[in-house]
Amino acid sequence: MEMRYSRVSGWGKYAPENVLTNFDLEKIVDTNDAWITKMTGIKERRVISEGETASSMAVEATNKALEVAGLTPADLDLIIIASSSPDYLVPAVSSTVQYKLGADCPAMTVVSGCTGFVYGMVTAHQFIATGAYDNILVVGVEVISKFVNWEDRNTCVLFGDGAGAVVMSPSNTSTGVMSFDMGSDGAKGHHLMAPGIGSAGIIDQAMLERKEQYLQMNGREVFKFATRVLPKSTLQTLENAEMTLDDIDLLIPHQANARIIDLAVRRLGIDEEKVFVNLHKYGNTAAASIPLALIEAVEEGRVKEGDKLCLVSFGSGLTWASAVLQWGQPLDNSEEIAQEDLIWDLNSIRTRMALTSTKMRVKARTVLEEASYKASAMMLPLYTFTGRKPPRKLEKKEDTKK
Ligand code: COA
Repeated sequence: MEMRYSRVSGWGKYAPENVLTNFDLEKIVDTNDAWITKMTGIKERRVISEGETASSMAVEATNKALEVAGLTPADLDLIIIASSSPDYLVPAVSSTVQYKLGADCPAMTVVSGCTGFVYGMVTAHQFIATGAYDNILVVGVEVISKFVNWEDRNTCVLFGDGAGAVVMSPSNTSTGVMSFDMGSDGAKGHHLMAPGIGSAGIIDQAMLERKEQYLQMNGREVFKFATRVLPKSTLQTLENAEMTLDDIDLLIPHQANARIIDLAVRRLGIDEEKVFVNLHKYGNTAAASIPLALIEAVEEGRVKEGDKLCLVSFGSGLTWASAVLQWGQPLDNSEEIAQEDLIWDLNSIRTRMALTSTKMRVKARTVLEEASYKASAMMLPLYTFTGRKPPRKLEKKEDTKK
């Protein structure tokens, strides 16, 4: 069976217009621009306005991605939404997005924190590689501004809202997800959690007072985990692709914290120029972080046809996921046709050569036989003279000639 690859055929991002700078935060909570910049690298983040939701942002990003891909919602075979801050726990935001788009296809939500988008992309690749589906929408979208406690400076300065969408389609050449590495360490789950949301923690008055409906984080533990897992998973996915860091044109890490990225870059020994960072503009947008960075890298011209990108993320769970992604378009159909023509031509040449050699063999045999006949004919008088009968073969030949 012919190998099927996936590829990114469309991409689009959406960041809410409302910008919240570190200076704005100084007015909300006991923090300052100098600390946030030094400890995280973040300068500003986006926060949704009234009326905006995870599904509305996902639809905005998707419409752009579909336009780039030259597709409509009707062309989608599957929708995968990665989000840990959906419109509601039930129904899944993926079905809301499917309805709002007017698509007629299955839809599912991946809730794996910041790694969700890479999980989703790898999942989409499997469906395309097996031939089950053609066009799959993968969106990372978060409205974390609704899930952080704006009085908790440990968390509220870090996060932002946004959405990034890609359309994955089939390809006849080696593009798309070339390898991946995914993992989960649930034993560390409590280091980053919202204890009051879900069946184990249906919210009551006491929980509300403790603000347990909001995200809680042990920053130090998450930092330790992230700086260990980022380089480890990057190297693992490269090994799975039988590549080294030298083969990678751009590393796109989860945009959580500049210090985590710096440490990972130093541990890997990769050239800083090959690492894409845009967290100063958006903060940590969780599952939207990788697609927002990927799409911005594409829009800035940092990604060219044939480039090999390494996406690497970590997040709540605690989880991690990385993938080598080869950027590019499928082979032109006309090239395939040209190849078929070439094969046809080669076959016809072979046939013609075979015919020619048969004709030549026949001709050569005829010439030889004629020569042999003439030679025998010349010998006839001699045979007659000697009284010996000409050979039967010659007699026959003479008969057929008549
Ligand atoms: N503004 C100003 N000062 C702050 C602050 C804030 N927002 N948050 C903490 N501080 C102060 C603390 O009070 C403490 O002061 P002290 O030394 O006078 O007691 C000091 O800064 C250090 O606080 P600490 O919480 O120990 O900081 P840290 O070194 O762990 O850095 C993070 C905090 C959040 C930057 C860091 O832990 C981190 O990046 N963790 C990973 C978080 C992450 O990426 N999460 C998302 C995963 S998807």
